[in-house]
Amino acid sequence: MQQIENYQKSFLKHLEGFTVHKEPNNLYQPINYILQLGGKRLRPVLTLMTAEVFGETLDNALDAALSIEVFHNFSLVHDDIMDDAPLRRGKETVHEKWNLNTGILSGDAMLILAYQLFENYEPETFQALAQLFSKTALEVCEGQQYDIDFETRDDVTITQYLKMIEYKTAVLVGAAMKMGAIVAKASLEDQNSIYQFGRLLGIAFQLQDDYLDAFGNPETFGKQVGGDIIENKKTYLYLKTMELGTNEDEKEFLFLMQNNVLSNEDKVKSAKQFFEDTGAAKATQDAVKDYTNKAFKVLETLNISEDKKQVLRLFGEQLMTRRV
Ligand code: IPE
Ligand code: IPE
Ligand code: MG
Ligand code: MG
Ligand code: MG
Repeated sequence: MQQIENYQKSFLKHLEGFTVHKEPNNLYQPINYILQLGGKRLRPVLTLMTAEVFGETLDNALDAALSIEVFHNFSLVHDDIMDDAPLRRGKETVHEKWNLNTGILSGDAMLILAYQLFENYEPETFQALAQLFSKTALEVCEGQQYDIDFETRDDVTITQYLKMIEYKTAVLVGAAMKMGAIVAKASLEDQNSIYQFGRLLGIAFQLQDDYLDAFGNPETFGKQVGGDIIENKKTYLYLKTMELGTNEDEKEFLFLMQNNVLSNEDKVKSAKQFFEDTGAAKATQDAVKDYTNKAFKVLETLNISEDKKQVLRLFGEQLMTRRV
């Protein structure tokens, strides 16, 4: 097994070759823009790592890794439209830099490009990859729809929230790993265990994303801090505030969130105070740890050597304490 940075390097080199120099510019430039904007590249790294864990060469997994990253970036372009987000990775979002229609169409094209990359695999692997991908992509759509529906609901439960983040985020992390296992022709049992590991890690990842959306450092976070509060997202922080706060807290917090009497800046500041005072912020951090530990339990069941497990554990721990 290699260092995480090495997987990243190999991936970035492969990504460079993917730059599309074609007309019309207004379709392809935004695609190159978002893909070159940076980001943690966590999903493709997981694909490459998993392929190696199951004895495949890294080279054979590069197109599957690229496919996952192109899909992820497509979902971000459309997500930023849906969330009315101005910033992504410290730069203007695609629909802000160009316009809404460009964001929609360039996103569509990226989804197709992601699928096309599977054509580089032989029929059996192609079919397994495409099958997993279609299922996962549809689940992401379902998760995204729940996320939007929840904005205007005030009866969302933690269970419903967990299902929403499982779909919008976690299944893609699981799929990224399973794709590595598919390319490596791992047994179905191992493919499923690694998927479960990724899915649980993905839930922890989205919980941490919720936390950072409120408590991230605006200088380094790369997204608009407080965006979820402004959009009235039913995050873990929100739902735990409602659960842990007194009746009085609950009433005041709901009034703050539902009536836009304050400026966005003041709304974010007050909401964060509620998150801290009610213990919701701490509960969110605890949940991140919980789901990461659940993932580690699944890892124990895998038929792989201890040093390989250690690399995957290290990756999970780094995600848990990430600040961007
Ligand atoms: C952002 O994903 C969208 C979520 C599912 C939370 P990342 O945090 O992986 O975004 P980048 O690719 O590193 O920018
Ligand atoms: C994003 O969730 C999930 C997908 C893109 C499918 P968020 O809306 O929380 O992601 P960020 O915070 O904008 O990156
Ligand atoms: Mg968003
Ligand atoms: Mg969103
Ligand atoms: Mg978020």
